Amino acid sequence: MNFSTGTISKLLSSKKIVFFTGAGISAESGIPVFRGKEGIWNKLKPEELANFDAFLRNPAMVWEWYEHRKKIIHESEPNPAHLAIAEMEKLFYEVTVVTQNIDNLHRRAGSKTIYELHGNIERNYCIKCRTFYNEELEFSCGVPKCKCGGLIRPDIVWFGEYLPEDQFNNSDEAAKECDVFIVVGTSAVVYPAASLIYSAKENGAYIIEINLEPTEISSFADESIMGKAGEILPGLVKEIENKLS
Ligand code: APR
Repeated sequence: MNFSTGTISKLLSSKKIVFFTGAGISAESGIPVFRGKEGIWNKLKPEELANFDAFLRNPAMVWEWYEHRKKIIHESEPNPAHLAIAEMEKLFYEVTVVTQNIDNLHRRAGSKTIYELHGNIERNYCIKCRTFYNEELEFSCGVPKCKCGGLIRPDIVWFGEYLPEDQFNNSDEAAKECDVFIVVGTSAVVYPAASLIYSAKENGAYIIEINLEPTEISSFADESIMGKAGEILPGLVKEIENKLS
C-alpha cells in the first residue's frame, strides 16, 4: 500500500479532488519530460524553441520542433495513470484535472473536466488575425500561413506569455475549493502554474504528491509518494474501490 491510512481516510471523506499534472504523468506514454536527467531542456534551449521571439526569428525551426513533438504524441496512448484519473470520476463527487501538459492525453483517457494551463498541441492560431486552425496545416517552406498572410503558431503558452485567463481562473477556483489536491509528475518550478499548489494548501486542501523523486513541494505536501504515476494511481483506484465496496 503506497498511501498512509490518514490519506486514504481523507480521500474517503472528500467530495472535490483536483489532479494537478505535469510532464511526468505522460512519461510512461513515451513523451519526454523537460527537466531532470532525461529532460528536453538538457539538450535543447527553451529560449530558442519555446518563446515568441524565437518563433519570429526562426518560425521554420520552431515548427519543425513542434511537428516532431506532435508525431511523438500522436504515436502515444494514455497510460494507466491517465486512465486511473479518469476512473476516479466514478468514485468522487467532483474530479477536476488541471494540467500543464499540451498532449491531450487526459482527454483521450476520458477525463471530463480538464483545464489546460499551457495550451494544446492540437490547436493553432494566426498571430495576426487570431483565426484558429485545428485541422491539418499546409506547410509551405516550413511555415504554415493564414489566409490573411499572417504566420500560424501552435496554441501553446511559451515562456514569458500569459496563461489563458479562463483556464487559470477556473483552475485557481478549483484549487481553492477542493478537499484534496494531488500533484502528479511535475517539478513544480514553473509559475504561475505551480502557485495553484499553494492556493490549494492555503485554502485547507490536503496536498498529495506523486513523483519519482523529491521536488520543491515535497516537504510542503501532506503526503509525498515516490514512484511511477502509472503504478501508484491505479493502486489508489483499487484501494478506494475496495473501501467503498
Ligand atoms: N511518474 C511520476 N513522476 C514522474 C515520472 C513518472 N513516471 N517520470 C518523471 N516524473 C517527474 C520528474 O521527476 C519531474 O519531477 O515528473 C516531473 C517532470 O518535471 P518537468 O520535466 O519539469 O515537467 P513539468 O513540471 O510539467 O514542467 C512544467 O515547464 O517547460 C515548461 O511548459 C513546460 O508545462 C511545462 C512546464
